[in-house]
Amino acid sequence: MASIGIAILLFSLYSLCEGAPHKNSSSYIGLGSSLSPETHPSSWPSASGLFEFGFYQQGSGFAVGIWLVGEDRNTTVWTANRDDPPLVPSPDNTVQLQLRNDGKLVLTSEQGHEKHIIASATNGSVSSASMLDSGNFVLYNEKHEVIWESFNHPTDTILGGQTLPVGGQLISSLSDDDHSTGRFHLNMQADGNLAMYSAKTENSDIDAYWNPYTAQNMKLYLNATNGVLTLINTTSLEVYDVINGDGDDDLANNPTVYRVTVGVNGVLRVYSHKMGANGTLQAPIIMWSKPEDPCDVRGVCGLNSYCTLSDNQPDCLCLPGSDYADLNRRTMGCLRNYSQPQCAAGGKENTSFYDIFTMENLAWVDTPDFQAKMTMEQCNRSCLEDCNCGAALFHKEGNNCMKQKPPLRYVRRDLTTSTTAFFKVSKLTTITESKNNGSNKPFPVNPPPTVVIRSKKVIVQILVLTLGLIIFSCVALAISGFYIFKMRVLRYKRLTEVNGDLGLADEELTMRVFSYNEMKRATNGFKQELGKGSFGAVYKGALNKGKKLIAVKRLEKLVEEGEREFRAEMQSIGRTHHKNLVRLLGYSAEGSKRLLVYEYMSNGSLADLLFKAEWHPTWDEKVGIAVDVARGLLYLHEECKSHIIHCDIKPQNILMDEFWNAKISDFGLAKLLMPDQTRTFTGIRGTRGYLAPEWHKNTPISVKADVYSFGIVLLELVCCRRNLDVTVRDEEIILSSWVYKCFVSRELHKLTVGGEEVNKKSLENMVKVGLWCIQDEPALRPSMKSVVLMLQGITDISIPPCPTTTSM
Ligand SMILES: *[C@@H]1O[C@H](CO)[C@@H](O)[C@H](O)[C@H]1NC(C)=O
Ligand SMILES: *[C@@H]1O[C@H](CO)[C@@H](O)[C@H](O)[C@H]1NC(C)=O
Ligand SMILES: *[C@@H]1O[C@H](CO)[C@@H](O)[C@H](O)[C@H]1NC(C)=O
Ligand SMILES: *[C@@H]1O[C@H](CO)[C@@H](O)[C@H](O)[C@H]1NC(C)=O
Ligand SMILES: *[C@@H]1O[C@H](CO)[C@@H](O)[C@H](O)[C@H]1NC(C)=O
Ligand SMILES: *[C@@H]1O[C@H](CO)[C@@H](O)[C@H](O)[C@H]1NC(C)=O
Ligand SMILES: *[C@@H]1O[C@H](CO)[C@@H](O)[C@H](O)[C@H]1NC(C)=O
Ligand SMILES: *[C@@H]1O[C@H](CO)[C@@H](O)[C@H](O)[C@H]1NC(C)=O
Ligand SMILES: *[C@@H]1O[C@H](CO)[C@@H](O)[C@H](O)[C@H]1NC(C)=O
Ligand SMILES: *[C@@H]1O[C@H](CO)[C@@H](O)[C@H](O)[C@H]1NC(C)=O
Repeated sequence: MASIGIAILLFSLYSLCEGAPHKNSSSYIGLGSSLSPETHPSSWPSASGLFEFGFYQQGSGFAVGIWLVGEDRNTTVWTANRDDPPLVPSPDNTVQLQLRNDGKLVLTSEQGHEKHIIASATNGSVSSASMLDSGNFVLYNEKHEVIWESFNHPTDTILGGQTLPVGGQLISSLSDDDHSTGRFHLNMQADGNLAMYSAKTENSDIDAYWNPYTAQNMKLYLNATNGVLTLINTTSLEVYDVINGDGDDDLANNPTVYRVTVGVNGVLRVYSHKMGANGTLQAPIIMWSKPEDPCDVRGVCGLNSYCTLSDNQPDCLCLPGSDYADLNRRTMGCLRNYSQPQCAAGGKENTSFYDIFTMENLAWVDTPDFQAKMTMEQCNRSCLEDCNCGAALFHKEGNNCMKQKPPLRYVRRDLTTSTTAFFKVSKLTTITESKNNGSNKPFPVNPPPTVVIRSKKVIVQILVLTLGLIIFSCVALAISGFYIFKMRVLRYKRLTEVNGDLGLADEELTMRVFSYNEMKRATNGFKQELGKGSFGAVYKGALNKGKKLIAVKRLEKLVEEGEREFRAEMQSIGRTHHKNLVRLLGYSAEGSKRLLVYEYMSNGSLADLLFKAEWHPTWDEKVGIAVDVARGLLYLHEECKSHIIHCDIKPQNILMDEFWNAKISDFGLAKLLMPDQTRTFTGIRGTRGYLAPEWHKNTPISVKADVYSFGIVLLELVCCRRNLDVTVRDEEIILSSWVYKCFVSRELHKLTVGGEEVNKKSLENMVKVGLWCIQDEPALRPSMKSVVLMLQGITDISIPPCPTTTSM
């Protein structure tokens, strides 16, 4: 009863202030009304007293703003001219805020006769103002139309019922007590990106720490009924997407104020302030926050420092070899506290100048300047000897070494990673300067290396003369050298293309991490779908201004898996390099959105070629494709580091490049569905028709399961038809049985497409290999190594037994 009573009271007060401003309600503010910080009144309350507009204490003085009146603490939701210094009233300085007759809300500070306009209508003249119970402060004209409202000028907060329009921005406060412009912002961009950045960065994709996918021309809206944050289509005004789930589940009759605020440390939170039984607001409850881990906020700690959680609050500590730029503001980053010795010739460091400091469990998101696979010891050494390396991060899983030039950014402690970081620190003289003077440099850059030039004037003159003489010949040399070099590179490139299974240069091993938005742009908003695989749809895209075509796979149906495991998995797939494997160029993992970026294969899949195309490959081409696929599988099974079982070999997963080389795709992904490949699987993966019998028998799956699928593909390739085809005579429906029958009765010619010119010996070999591969008993199937040798005719092939142990 009591709560209903309060609700009715509130409602009637609300309608009073909304609908009938001319009545004498406490929220009606007429022309000529004024406020001052120290004498009554200092604020104008809303009708129910939930919100107040006026002077509030900030630092040693006052600021003008709107706050939510709480039991023990008021919550500032808006500040006027937030970056102005606090107003300090004194006997000879009267501070006053007045709604003047000319329709302007003006702040005057008597002493300097300063005037600051807080709000003024550009459009018609003001006749009254009101502090609404929604938290909106509005100015009205004579017709009682709103001509200015604080909701259109948000600072770090939007309240229930308020929208952040297209192009709008929320900027955090500097601290809980100082509401001037802080370090983080949330942008509702016109291009459809809702993104959070550190204010000091270039707003590039790598700097965004929260960037959910939205569409163009959306506005952000906080539902006043349940605290749900939604994206609304500005044209149709329909809800496009909900950001924070179901919202408040405790929708009792108690009035509740919801707000969403970009916090001082960059975390976006939705709060609910509930009305207690005695009519005052209780302490706020956090309903939702993003990112969940405060150390995931990029830029929460400055350069050369790392974020670690203490009491669930982010704390910034200096990395080895650096000290705080400003001890009192630890988030401002650290400066290098040693001088850098000169780099010796050839980019090699004189290692006797340096110490290596080691730290465990660090992570950083910056793209590495150099990345390669090596042992921990090599990684350590490699950084020590490299002039450009300031630190190296070694991932124990996958032996991946990522070297980074200083300064380092976005570093955090992360106990879930197994990494070792090496920091190179000079033993040389300490720099004493700029220790305490760096405070006004929020993102300090390392002092440039001190280079000592000892040369005398004479030497310089000689040098200049000599240089003048040399330069001419140099230019000539350089030009010819350039062409020779270019030709070499071209030749080298061709060589590596031919010998793809040889080791590649380290640089080739790098894989890029793309942002979701980068990929969205590259695929033109996932416009052109190339096909749908077992893991999700594949889209065509382009990088490097359209020069490099890519295929982007959007993963669906993944097991719930952490981003880190996913990244580790991607790194391991990225390290597989073979000319018969479709190359993974990079990936993107933001929240639940996972994208894989592959090289584009212009000639479609083997399935298209065998079952759809107008023309069929010649016999020699078929043999070539068989050998290509077998080599790719051999690499996955035996030659690459992590020994991958593909689990889904089928013609749809074999793609053809522009030169009609066959390449296997989708490898390594089975692991994402089944975390542990060595155990018995509970659910069947792969595709009916290509599945080895052991999948149905609950026995362990080994590489031999792939050999079985390969056998089926091989027979399909030979006969240019699907394993199961109901359009043919009964005895031919199952291809593998039909092939065995023909083999036994020495009628292999029946298998080939009419008029095809086939080398009989070669046909028999292919069939025999196929039949060996599809043996029911995994142990009878050959390894891929033997398959390759058999297909190339290097080893003889014995007569295969009947593939199925049961009768045929
Ligand atoms: C109306 O409000 C004014 C101040 O805003 C006050 O002086 C006056 O007494 C009020 N009148 C009534 C009837 O409450
Ligand atoms: C909160 O606001 C009310 C109303 O303006 C004021 O009386 C009170 O002193 C404020 N409380 C704090 C802690 O500032
Ligand atoms: C001017 O006022 C009208 C209502 O009187 C409003 O619809 C319009 O948006 C205002 N224009 C500007 C530029 O504020
Ligand atoms: C706000 O939430 C209520 C309750 O779920 C819903 O009925 C209403 O449509 C929502 N408003 C908007 C604008 O989405
Ligand atoms: C927004 O609404 C307009 C008009 O109904 C519609 O054409 C457009 O497709 C919508 N945008 C999105 C992203 O749904
Ligand atoms: C309201 O109730 C809370 C406990 O629920 C109490 O601590 C507080 O003092 C009360 N406030 C008033 C103004 O009665
Ligand atoms: C440099 O800073 C690191 C980290 O704060 C500290 O351990 C080291 O002693 C400092 N070195 C010098 C020479 O000041
Ligand atoms: C490294 O520096 C030390 C000390 O200056 C010097 O003795 C040594 O020859 C240098 N080594 C190399 C390889 O330059
Ligand atoms: C890294 O190298 C340095 C210098 O060579 C050595 O002192 C240190 O023990 C090495 N650390 C590890 C973990 O290998
Ligand atoms: C630091 O700054 C102060 C004044 O801001 C200056 O007097 C002092 O010389 C500076 N110290 C160094 C080491 O630059």
